Amino acid sequence: MGRILIADDHDALRRGLARALTEAGHDTEEAPNGNAAIARLHDGFFDVVLSDLKMGGSDGLEVLRTAKALHPSTAVILMTAFGSVTTAVEAMKSGAFDFVQKPFEIEEMEVKIEKALELRRMRHELDYLRHTQNDIYEFDRIIGSSGALAKVLTVVRKVAKSNTTVLIRGETGTGKELIAGAIHHNSLRASRNFVRVNCAALQENLLESELFGHERGAFTGADKQRIGRFEQADGGSLFLDEVGDMSANTQAKILRVLQEQEFERLGGTRTLKVDVRLIAATNKNLATMVSSGQFREDLYYRLNVVSIDMPPLRDRKDDIPALAEFFVRRFSAELKRKMDGIRPDALKLLLRYNWPGNIRELENSIERAVLLTESSLITLDDLRLGETITPGVDSDGPSIVRIPPAGIPLEEIERRALVEALKMSNWVQKDAAELLSISPRVINYKIKMLKIEFPKGRREVAEQV
Ligand SMILES: Nc1ncnc2c1ncn2[C@@H]1O[C@H](COP(=O)(O)OP(=O)(O)OP(=O)(O)O)[C@@H](O)[C@H]1O
Ligand SMILES: [Mg+2]
Repeated sequence: MGRILIADDHDALRRGLARALTEAGHDTEEAPNGNAAIARLHDGFFDVVLSDLKMGGSDGLEVLRTAKALHPSTAVILMTAFGSVTTAVEAMKSGAFDFVQKPFEIEEMEVKIEKALELRRMRHELDYLRHTQNDIYEFDRIIGSSGALAKVLTVVRKVAKSNTTVLIRGETGTGKELIAGAIHHNSLRASRNFVRVNCAALQENLLESELFGHERGAFTGADKQRIGRFEQADGGSLFLDEVGDMSANTQAKILRVLQEQEFERLGGTRTLKVDVRLIAATNKNLATMVSSGQFREDLYYRLNVVSIDMPPLRDRKDDIPALAEFFVRRFSAELKRKMDGIRPDALKLLLRYNWPGNIRELENSIERAVLLTESSLITLDDLRLGETITPGVDSDGPSIVRIPPAGIPLEEIERRALVEALKMSNWVQKDAAELLSISPRVINYKIKMLKIEFPKGRREVAEQV
C-alpha cells in the first residue's frame, strides 16, 4: 500500500478518487489545485502522485517537474481530459510514469497505481542488491592484516573464481557474511545477483514460496506472481546464511533442489533450471549436529566442499587497532561527529577485552562510544564493554557485587571476581591481574589458593605470558 497525493480542481472527482483509494488501503492526501499540490510535495514524500494535467494555478506539468526534482522515485500519473493526448505523451517524455484519459474507471486507476508501487519496490531491491555488492563487500573493506585473516583471504582468492560450494564457519559476528560477499564479488558472477537467504528466519509454511516463488493464484493471498530466491540468484550466488538453524523438513527440501538443480514455482507447471553458486554460513558445529542427528549428513557433505573458518577476534587481536580506527572513521562520518581517534588507555582496554560478540561487538561499542563521547578522542569511560564495570568507575557507582540474602563467604566473591576477570582477559593472567589492580605474582598465588580451573588448553598460553 502506498502514500498517494491526488491533485485535481474538480472537487467531486478528487474526493471520489480519494475515498476509493483509501478504501483500497492506501494513505491518501488531496490538493485542490497545482500550487497546493506543489506545497504538499515540499512537505513530504509520496509513492504516487495523481495529477490532473489542466488545473488552476500551476498545471500538472509543473507538479510533475516538482515531484521529479524533489523525489526522483515518486511515480506521477497524469489525468488528462479527452483530446489532450499529445500533451500527455510529452509528459511521459518528461518522466511521468503513466497517464489516464478522463473519464476513467476507478479499477483502471488502481491497476496503474499497483504497477507504479511494484516498480518502486523492484527498484528498491535492485538498489539494495547493488549497494551490497559494490559497496560493502569490496575486498579493501575487509580490514586486518593478522596472519589468521590473511589465511582466510588466501582461500577466498583461490575459491572465488571457481563455482565451488563454500561453507563459512565461525562464531557470531566474525565476518561470515562479509566473506561470503567477498567471494561473490571476486567471482566471475560478480555482475549478477548475490542473494541472501536467512535460513533461521524461514517460516516453514512460506518456505517454498520464498525459495521457489509462486504463480498468481497459487494459494489464497497469492495475488501476484512472485520470483523466488533461487530464481533471483540465477547466474549469481545464493548465500544460505545460518544454515545450521533449519528444521528437518526444510533441510530435506533444500537438499532436493541442490541435488536436482531444478524446481517449479508454486502453482506453476514449468520446471525451472537455475545456475547458482552456493555459499553457506553457520555459527553451529555442523559435524557435531550430524553425529547427534540434528543435521542431515547428505546435506552436510553437499555444502561442505571447501570450508573457511573465521577466526574469533580474540585470536587476532593484532587487528583490533586497525578495525577500531576504521569504525571510528566510519561512525564519525555517519553520525556527523568530528573524531580524532581513541585514547591510548581506551585502546589498551579494547586489546585486553575478549570480545565474545567479535567484530560486530567491536563495531557496536565504537558506534556507541562515538555517539556518547564528549571529547574528540574516545575515552575509557565511553567504552562500556560487555556492560561490565571498567576501571575508572568510582566506588559510588552502581553496586558491582550482589550479596545473596543467605550470605556468601568473601573468599567465594574473590573467586568469582577472579574468574570474571580471567574470562574478560581471555584467560591471560597478566591482563586479568591488571584488571583487578594486582600484580601477576599475586594473581598467580590466588589462582592456586582458590583452585581456579582454566578451560582446556588455556593454562599453557597463560603461563607463557
Ligand atoms: N574484517 C572486517 N573489516 C571490517 N568490517 C568487518 C570485518 N569483519 C566483519 N566486519 C563487520 O562486522 C559486522 C559483522 O560481520 P558479519 O555480519 O559478516 O558477521 P557474521 O559472522 O555473519 O555474524 P552473525 O553470525 O552474527 O551473522 C559487519 O558489520 C561487518 O561489516
Ligand atoms: Mg551473518
